[in-house]
Amino acid sequence: MIAACRENVAVLGLGSHVPERVMTNDEIATMVDTNDEWISQRTGIRERRIAGPGDSSASLGAEAARRALASAGVAATDLDLIVAATASPDYYFPATASLIGDRIGATDVAGYDLSAACTGFIYALAQGYSQIASGLADTVLVVGTEVFSRLLDWDDRSTCILFGDGAGAVVLGRSEGAGLRAFEMGADGSGAQLLSVAAAGNAEFEAEGPYVKMNGPEVYKFATRVTAESASRCLDVAGLTVGDVNLFVPHQANRRIIDHAARRLGIDEAKVFSNVDRYGNTSAGSIPIGLDEAWRQGRIDRGDVVLMVGFGGGLAWGSCLLEWTKERV
Ligand code: ACO
Repeated sequence: MIAACRENVAVLGLGSHVPERVMTNDEIATMVDTNDEWISQRTGIRERRIAGPGDSSASLGAEAARRALASAGVAATDLDLIVAATASPDYYFPATASLIGDRIGATDVAGYDLSAACTGFIYALAQGYSQIASGLADTVLVVGTEVFSRLLDWDDRSTCILFGDGAGAVVLGRSEGAGLRAFEMGADGSGAQLLSVAAAGNAEFEAEGPYVKMNGPEVYKFATRVTAESASRCLDVAGLTVGDVNLFVPHQANRRIIDHAARRLGIDEAKVFSNVDRYGNTSAGSIPIGLDEAWRQGRIDRGDVVLMVGFGGGLAWGSCLLEWTKERV
């Protein structure tokens, strides 16, 4: 799927939330045969946040949502739709979106979950845009929220070092200026087995267990290739070049993937946002957490063009170009 956006839909507000508990590489080294040097050099990750006993995808997502609503100056009761991107929902059903709606006081609001792993937030943004552009909704809350720590095999050093927990959210609504400019998204199911978590509908579920399984080197190759290719296609359809981009907020899976993709795209290092050192890979949470931190750090201003690219299980990918319309108050 690829298109330039015809309607003016913008980010009205944004927020994020991560659990308090910090798990360092040294702590992981007490559980599996690894060390801080290996993890830092291969991934750029130094620590990650781990959900506490009372935390869930819904609770982290709800806190991010509250902050996004406050930032937008929108009441929860004014929402028309909640789309929650998550691969680690509280339940198969009810949808995490419904649970978030209940927690924030939006109990008469349509809501559903979207499963596209680490690309989930980009797909969910496209959903939010489409529902507003079609006229079905005026105001949409898009949340990316994950508790991957409960999907990890903590005896598997090739996966347990990579992931962390957290959530980010944006409120979308109609705008005067452009806002969302273009999307490019795709998925190649022939690579589905390279990165997966089995679920109950799967005939092999009993044998596989509900844990992240990954072929790291193959996912790495896919990620570096698709990030640059998808971003280039998205820029083309928007009529922009990489020189027009003010900030690049890629999915935070691995610092080497981010640097490699940025070099391939030809984007200045100073325009690349990364917080993977502090949070690891928070899957659908990573792009909205990054966007929110970049905004709070003053790295985005009105009129800036922000490029976001997600990739991961599916194998799926997605890019979005966003012209920033929000004023700093
Ligand atoms: N500590 C120490 N050694 C390790 C560890 C570890 N944590 N993990 C693996 N090793 C060892 C391996 O056993 C192997 O040893 P050997 O050479 O004796 O066999 C060696 O290190 C090299 O292993 P590789 O897997 O080839 O290491 P690589 O350089 O590819 O790095 C990594 C692995 C970091 C996982 C990399 O492949 C990667 O980042 N892949 C992409 C992963 C990713 O981003 N996934 C998420 C996508 S998003 C989503 O949708 C969830």
